Amino acid sequence: MTRPKVLLTRKWPQAVERRLAAAYDVVLNPDDQPLSPAVLAEAMMEFDAICPTVVDSITADVVAREGARVKIFANYGVGVNHIDLEACRRHGIAVSNTPDVLTDATAELALTLMLMIARRAGEGERQVRAGRWVGWGATRLLGTTLVGKTLGVVGFGRIGQATARMARHGLGMSILYSSRRPAAPEVEAETGGRWRPLDDMLAEADVVSLHIPGGADTHHLIDAARLQKMKPTALLINTARGSVVDEAALEAALRAGTIAGAGLDVFSAEPEVPDGFLDLENVVLLPHMGSATTETREAMGDRAVDNLDAFFAGKPPPDLL
Ligand code: DGY
Repeated sequence: MTRPKVLLTRKWPQAVERRLAAAYDVVLNPDDQPLSPAVLAEAMMEFDAICPTVVDSITADVVAREGARVKIFANYGVGVNHIDLEACRRHGIAVSNTPDVLTDATAELALTLMLMIARRAGEGERQVRAGRWVGWGATRLLGTTLVGKTLGVVGFGRIGQATARMARHGLGMSILYSSRRPAAPEVEAETGGRWRPLDDMLAEADVVSLHIPGGADTHHLIDAARLQKMKPTALLINTARGSVVDEAALEAALRAGTIAGAGLDVFSAEPEVPDGFLDLENVVLLPHMGSATTETREAMGDRAVDNLDAFFAGKPPPDLL
């Protein structure tokens, strides 16, 4: 039997590339350069499966290639706003993702950003590296204590809940959350989360952390009006998708003191970062690294391969969307 032909659009951890190569006729991307839309469209004709990542735009045009051979997109990542799911459904192409395995890593990064911005760690590090540190001072680089403060979680799925748990147990924070509907009582008991309508929660929280998917439904959910509802001392953390925040409005809010600071791991036009953030001390900027741990990136690959294995064995992939 001929082995299914699989394309990896980016470089994966070696152990999972080896696992794939043992079972599939796999084409790797050792240069790790993003593929152009034209190359992706061509790949639709040549491969049985494509394993895209967050940087690949699987648009309706890519999916609708006449005579396409691809039968499954086994996405390497949990967010799938870069894949036109409706077009895939129309063309009978399966789509899977890699939930669960990146939950803790992403929640850890949300906590990292919270601590960095609350304690002005980026600013301090910039001073040290630039030789601008002139020594200890009782009134220098004063941040905000997080212990005992209130965290507002927007989106209470796996990552939102894990962030709440870490903030509650690690930092003794009180947890509010906002989601379409309240979570089950046992989830609330375990995370300490109390449901609030979004605007009420924004007004109450000391730190607001975003954990909702990207896409049309959440585009600019945090806009100028919502930023105005937050406390002037509040911090905004985004490890979800850049499109969820109106970046121009956020920059204006940070400059005007409408809110005190922001920690951002994602941007709307990655890898571009809005110029206006670059000279602001009250924002921490990270390069979309929420799931970037060795353990997590291997587990994501394994999960994507599990999906391919099930699909090509004629079974439903465990993470079929
Ligand atoms: C995801 O999985 O959606 C991340 O943003 C990419 O690692």
